[in-house]
Amino acid sequence: MPNQTFTSSAALSGKIRVPGDKSISHRSLMFAGLAVGESRITGLLEGEDVLATAAAMRQLGADITRNDDGEWRVHGAGLGSLLEPHQALEMGNSGTSTRLMMGLLASHPIAATFTGDASLSGRPMNRVITPLSQMGASFEASKGGTLPLMVRGASPAVPITYRLPVASAQVKSAVLLAGLNTPGITRVIEPIATRDHTERMLTGFGATLEIGEETGANGPERIIAIHGEADLKPQNVVVPGDPSSAAFFIVAALIVPGSDLLIENVGLNTTRAGIVTVLRQMGGQIEEVNPREVGGEPVADLCVRHSALTGIDVDPAIVPSMVDEFPVMFVAAALAKGTTRTTGLEELRVKESDRLSTMANALTLAGVSLEENEDGLIIQGTGGDPIPGTPNEASVETRLDHRIAMAMAIAGLVSRNGVCVDDTAPIATSFPTFMDLLSGASA
Ligand code: S3P
Repeated sequence: MPNQTFTSSAALSGKIRVPGDKSISHRSLMFAGLAVGESRITGLLEGEDVLATAAAMRQLGADITRNDDGEWRVHGAGLGSLLEPHQALEMGNSGTSTRLMMGLLASHPIAATFTGDASLSGRPMNRVITPLSQMGASFEASKGGTLPLMVRGASPAVPITYRLPVASAQVKSAVLLAGLNTPGITRVIEPIATRDHTERMLTGFGATLEIGEETGANGPERIIAIHGEADLKPQNVVVPGDPSSAAFFIVAALIVPGSDLLIENVGLNTTRAGIVTVLRQMGGQIEEVNPREVGGEPVADLCVRHSALTGIDVDPAIVPSMVDEFPVMFVAAALAKGTTRTTGLEELRVKESDRLSTMANALTLAGVSLEENEDGLIIQGTGGDPIPGTPNEASVETRLDHRIAMAMAIAGLVSRNGVCVDDTAPIATSFPTFMDLLSGASA
């Protein structure tokens, strides 16, 4: 377990480019793996989570190779023709790989076992087991609906209409992917909109989807209908930069005095860009330069300058569009003037770690005043003064959670004693170039 101390930093300057979007990278490999013919992917995130998806798709029959220039080529196995894997599918730390592939397999006549690391093996899978069982798949899961688990797909599966009980793009995507190889029309009702990469990309690969809106009991709801037995066509996919990775550098540049950083090629799909809105509400100077489209997604370069931040009450309605960015937003709040209150964050308790308690413990150890509630944190900021940092010999616990490790690394940049992070290895799951970019930008 490589522990590391992150200390007070020079201003961040120059320009950086964050790696490809994790959500889009997973989906590009999966969808290309279902199309007959050769797809090419550029800008793929080469983090451990995405490599777990690539390995699993190979076990299911896709031919996936990487060229020396970083372009990936995928020859799909074909929808309906996935092979039964000889060994367990090892998903590492990746909930997205697991839940989306459970959906894929649910409508194929094969059985497969999913395994994962200690973090993934504690995460709830009943949220996908429930709808996929209604479609005809059967499951043998470990206690409490966790990994290791076995799925036996149904052939043919039956189409369902499923209203999401939690705002989760992974659950939505699992049902839509099962619907791809199911006769008839499968529908998902989304009371709260979540990231829409699956819908956009499946349409690009040639599937037929209809997206409508209806008035539900609590306001408008999205209805996504997918026509089954689709004929997917190979595509050339360009993966835009990951806003969730960019968020660490946006916050770093906002809180480290004197910073002026250009972050190139950041995906700004409105279902993902909540962090930019919230940081601007806190007074952050974030300018969008050269807005354009990459791979069917809105993208811009972000020019971020050190700013005096002010605490706010974060509107819970914005949570789904920044669900992965709260750890680093809490760090921004710790350096803001006054109080930041967050609510509606119950889902953070079932991420790679319980992100409310992990961040509450980590920030408290680093000398930040806060209160942990069931559904959020209330943080008292320093008004820009450095936080104390971790005491001698003590390190914050990251609990196999990449985003905790990166958020606390950023906190260390504006601290008196530095912040010691117990285990930086998980950063490689989503952002293998994080350390290099950080040292380069603050050199
Ligand atoms: C993801 C959806 C979100 C997010 C995860 C990636 C996706 O999970 O936290 O990092 O690619 O669909 P939930 O569906 O659990 O909210």
